[in-house]
Amino acid sequence: MRLDKFISSQRSDLSRSAVKELCRKGLVSVDGQTVKKSDVQVDENSAQIYVNGEKISYQRHLYIMLNKPQGVVCSTKDGESKTVLEIIPPKYRRKGMFPAGRLDKDTEGFVLITDDGELAHKMLSPKSHVPKTYFVKLEKPWEESYIEAFANGMTIDGDEKCLPAEFKGGSDKYECTLVLHEGKFHQVKRMFCSLGNNVVYLRRISIGSLELDPNLPLGECLEILHKDVEKLLAQ
Ligand code: URA
Repeated sequence: MRLDKFISSQRSDLSRSAVKELCRKGLVSVDGQTVKKSDVQVDENSAQIYVNGEKISYQRHLYIMLNKPQGVVCSTKDGESKTVLEIIPPKYRRKGMFPAGRLDKDTEGFVLITDDGELAHKMLSPKSHVPKTYFVKLEKPWEESYIEAFANGMTIDGDEKCLPAEFKGGSDKYECTLVLHEGKFHQVKRMFCSLGNNVVYLRRISIGSLELDPNLPLGECLEILHKDVEKLLAQ
């Protein structure tokens, strides 16, 4: 692949003309040699490429774990609010990136952003039942009866049947975790509402067996390694 094409495909903040300029300034190296021309051919699988001292490694797809703050929406475009794609660093804003699954504007926590449509499809398909764990703060104390109510599969809003879910009360009676195996619109909030309670705070803490990094501050993100991506689909 051409060097400029390779670099700009991995770094959306670097256009081909920007790469040309960086090469001209002697800031690009391939296998330890400074490369002054951006149209040389490189082997994207094996070449050691550095731009401004930063290694550009080749990954066909990008997987980003974002700790979404409140007030940010999970769509690709929104007229009023900031979108998850707008708050990730420019180097991750590759072509085709989108949030795989949605959280409400006022929900915090783990959102996966990727350009891997196949993985997203597997994760989001209604048949996949990838578990998602939520930490919930309630308006009123939780009750023991919730365990069975969730385990039995609840019906919400009259006729919407939910799959069995795992409820676990916290030592603080206003806190709990809930594991869902599907993703209906406002599902956690609607399920608690049907029990006569209300969600006052919601955070997604894991997808599959991949947990939100507890040290990741709100609004920040990190790249997920390919070996960890498998955990997203693990039950
Ligand atoms: N359930 C909800 O009610 N809201 C979310 O953002 C996610 C799950």
